[in-house]
Amino acid sequence: MNLMEFSEDQVKKAIKNGQITISVIGLGRIGLPTAVLFAESGANVIGVDIDPKLIELLKDGKNELDEPSLDELIKKNIKNGKLKISLDLKFTIKNSQVIIICVPTSINKNHSANYSIIKKVIEDLSGIIIPNQIIIIESTISPGMVENYMIPVLERGSKLKCGKDFFIASCPERANPGNIIKTFKNTPRIIGGITQKCTNIASAIYSSVIDSEIIKTTNPKTANAVKLTENIFRDINIALMNELAILYEKLEINIFDVIKASSTKWNFIPHYPGPGVGGSCLPVNPYYLIDEAKKVGYELNLILMAREINEQMPEHIVQLIGKSLEIAKKSIKNSNICILGLSYKPDIKDIQLSPAISIINKLKHLEAKIRLFDPYFKNQNILDIKVNSSLENAVKDADCLVIVTKHKLISNINLQNIQKLTKSPLIIVDGRKTFNSENLPNKTIYQCVGCPLIIS
Ligand SMILES: NC(=O)c1ccc[n+]([C@@H]2O[C@H](COP(=O)([O-])OP(=O)(O)OC[C@H]3O[C@@H](n4cnc5c(N)ncnc54)[C@H](O)[C@@H]3O)[C@@H](O)[C@H]2O)c1
Repeated sequence: MNLMEFSEDQVKKAIKNGQITISVIGLGRIGLPTAVLFAESGANVIGVDIDPKLIELLKDGKNELDEPSLDELIKKNIKNGKLKISLDLKFTIKNSQVIIICVPTSINKNHSANYSIIKKVIEDLSGIIIPNQIIIIESTISPGMVENYMIPVLERGSKLKCGKDFFIASCPERANPGNIIKTFKNTPRIIGGITQKCTNIASAIYSSVIDSEIIKTTNPKTANAVKLTENIFRDINIALMNELAILYEKLEINIFDVIKASSTKWNFIPHYPGPGVGGSCLPVNPYYLIDEAKKVGYELNLILMAREINEQMPEHIVQLIGKSLEIAKKSIKNSNICILGLSYKPDIKDIQLSPAISIINKLKHLEAKIRLFDPYFKNQNILDIKVNSSLENAVKDADCLVIVTKHKLISNINLQNIQKLTKSPLIIVDGRKTFNSENLPNKTIYQCVGCPLIIS
């Protein structure tokens, strides 16, 4: 079957009628929902991963991601045979018309881009792809990587010509982890193929799973530039708020009042300060472009500065903890410090590059006695500390509470009740503007990032 000879309508029909097999390489936070949703749309899907434990789990219809409705969809599509799970890349590729790549990309310790996994996948594919296949890259990569690295490697290994014998497109993932099934479907998608026809066919493939707009770009590198630009935009704006937050603490101005008032201007886009930026995208994506810029002799100073500011926020939180304890004539050393929230964002079980990690490591170094509480990580070991199973146990006799993640359960904390359990005064360092300063109980020292210190 040569999809390039199909019209876009024929592609959509063929997917619906189960005539197309799509392989999804990498069944993590992004690949698994992708595989499941294509199976739902009618395609035959084979999901491949290198993790044998994950493969066994998925074959049993189970998974460890806390994504609403993902469980039922996996079970249903495994049972009806629409979704197959495999460790065998060669078998999978030989039986697919479409190959979607969702493997991890990251950075090295020196902040350079680490594409070792995706490069290995491309090398492997170069020896097994067959004519007329279309390869779609969902993983986040630098603009130009498809054109300058992937195509030459695939052509060399396969002896096939890209744009004639096989096709490639970028369709970077933009969904919202924690709500991925819904946001996968209703978030507009960016697609850039190596030829116009390839862009159109890739768009037709995704239109069978996406209810929202598909934006076609002129080539893969533009699609990848979109993905990096939107994440860098967010990282820089958060950095701006973090920088102002530190200033406004000193000037005794509440940054949240400032942001609220500024938002009344038509062209202001609110962003908020916090304890740092986590997740698999924002803390790493800027470095991909910084790297790429260096290759053409250009320095991305603003983007780098924003990263530095955001990476310093955990240290700022630790300084706020030290200063707040000092008011009560205590020091970090030997104090019971309770971290509330470990995930990098609310109501999701995901600790990837979470600022909580840096804060805990810094507090450990300063010999604090650390307790952890996060409803998503109960009883698990995080940095060799067992996460408490109950909020009450975690805060008992605490000298200081530190809010890192505004999970619903944490924002609903009743401070009057909590105060009965902690040491007096109740000291809170809040990285997320969790509490309303008017509702603070008496004998509280409350330091919210970006706000004046409150002693009640
Ligand atoms: N998680 C997010 O919020 C998010 C959002 C947008 C984009 N992305 C991007 O999507 C890509 C995938 O991220 P993720 O969060 O799904 O990663 P993940 O770590 O959750 O999952 C990756 C999966 O790939 C598997 N894998 C690794 N090497 C493999 C190989 N050689 N062959 C087959 N499988 C392999 C791993 O075992 C794992 O199951 C990354 O480029 C990431 O930057 C992630």
